[in-house]
Amino acid sequence: MLTETITQPRAKGLADLPSVQTDSLLQLIALCNADPRPHKIDVGVGVYRDSVGRTPVLQVIKEAEAILLKTQETKGYLGMSGDKRYTELLRPIVLGRHAGDERIAGVQTPGGCGALCLGFDLIARANPDARVLVGGPTWPNHPPIIRSVGLEIIDYPYYERGQATIRFEDMIQALGNGRPGDVALLHGCCHNPTGADLGDEQWAKVTEVVADRGLIPFVDLAYQGFGRGLEEDASGLWRLLDVCDEVLVAQSCDKNFAVYRDRVGNLFVKTGSMDTTATAMAHVMQSAREMWSMPPDHGAAAVRIVLDTPELAERWHVELAQMRDRINSVRQRIASADPRLSFIGRQFGMFSMLPLSKEQVVELRESHAIYMAESGRFNVVGLSDEQVDPFVEAVLHVMNG
Ligand SMILES: Cc1ncc(COP(=O)(O)O)c(C=O)c1O
Repeated sequence: MLTETITQPRAKGLADLPSVQTDSLLQLIALCNADPRPHKIDVGVGVYRDSVGRTPVLQVIKEAEAILLKTQETKGYLGMSGDKRYTELLRPIVLGRHAGDERIAGVQTPGGCGALCLGFDLIARANPDARVLVGGPTWPNHPPIIRSVGLEIIDYPYYERGQATIRFEDMIQALGNGRPGDVALLHGCCHNPTGADLGDEQWAKVTEVVADRGLIPFVDLAYQGFGRGLEEDASGLWRLLDVCDEVLVAQSCDKNFAVYRDRVGNLFVKTGSMDTTATAMAHVMQSAREMWSMPPDHGAAAVRIVLDTPELAERWHVELAQMRDRINSVRQRIASADPRLSFIGRQFGMFSMLPLSKEQVVELRESHAIYMAESGRFNVVGLSDEQVDPFVEAVLHVMNG
C-alpha cells in the first residue's frame, strides 16, 4: 500500500528573521573597547566630553535631581503628554518670538528620536503620499525612521566633503522641485554629521523656497546651544515659523542638558489654525499611546526644575556656554594646525567630516589607535585637551601619505 507523505506548510517563526546589518558606529565602539592600546582615541562617540574626557552630569541637573528626590510624592502616571510644565518652559527657548503662538502645540517625547518618530508618523497619517526631502549626508537614523512610517525619501546632496562646502545651489534646486505637501527635513543647527550649518542668508533663501513651494519644514533641533548660542541656533527655525503655516520641530534636551540616557525631548507642531492643531495633537497623542503610552518622567522633571528655578536656569546657561566654548576652542585648535583643516574652525557643533578615504580611516585606526566613522566623521570633543595634538599629528601624517 502506498503511503502519501503530506508536507505541512511550516509556520513561520522567529527563526525566519533575516539578519540585521549592525550599525557601523556600534561596531566601531566594540572595536575601540577591545583595543588594549592605552593611548587610543575615540572620536566616533556621539556625546560631549570635557577637557579630561568625561561626560559629566551637569551640576544644575544634580541639584534638580536632589530637589526631585526630596519633593516627589508619587510616581503615579502623568498622562500621555508627559510633564506639561516642562514642555511649556521650553517654548520660549525653542520657539523664541513664536512661543505665544497658540497654533503651536508641544508634547514631551522620549528624546529627539521619539519626536522624529511621532512627527513623521503624523505626516504619514495626514498625507501618506508626502515625500521627504533629505540632504545627504544626514544623521544615519533619519532614513530608517522616515521609511518606518512608509514615507518616500528624496535624497539631494547637501555637503561636498572634499571642498568642505554646502552644496547650496543643489539644495535650493531640490527644494524647488518639491511638491506642495512634501516635507523638507532640516537640521536646525550643528549639522550631524558635517558641522556645516546654513548661514543667515541661506536660511532666508531656504525659507523663501520652502514657503513658495508649499513644503512642510520639519526641523531637527538636537543640539541647540552647542553652536553659536541658544537664540542663534534656533534663528533658522524662527524664520520658518515667521512665514510657514505648517512646521514640525523635533527638539532634544539630551545634549544641551547632558541627560542623554534619560531620553528628554519634545515634538512641536504648528498648523494654520488652533482647530487644526487640536486635531493634529489628537493624532499625535494616539500615536504616542501606541508607541510608548507615556514618556519617561525623570529627566524631563529634572529639566523642568532647572528651568523653573531662576537661579538654576541662570547657571544652566553658564554650563551650556562652557560646553559650547570647549567645542569651539577645540575646533579652533584643530583648524589652526594646517590650512587643510581650517574649515573645521568655520563649522559648528560636535561633528565634522575629514576628507579621508576609507583606507586612511583604517590606517588611523590600525597604526594610530584613532577610532572614527568610515565616512571620516569625528567628534571634535571626543578629544580630551591632551589628545588634540597627537590626533592632529596622526591625521596630517595620514593625509600626507
Ligand atoms: C541630528 C540628530 N537628531 C536627533 C538625535 C536624537 O537625539 P536623542 O538622543 O535626543 O534621541 C540625534 C542624536 O544623536 C541627532 O544627532
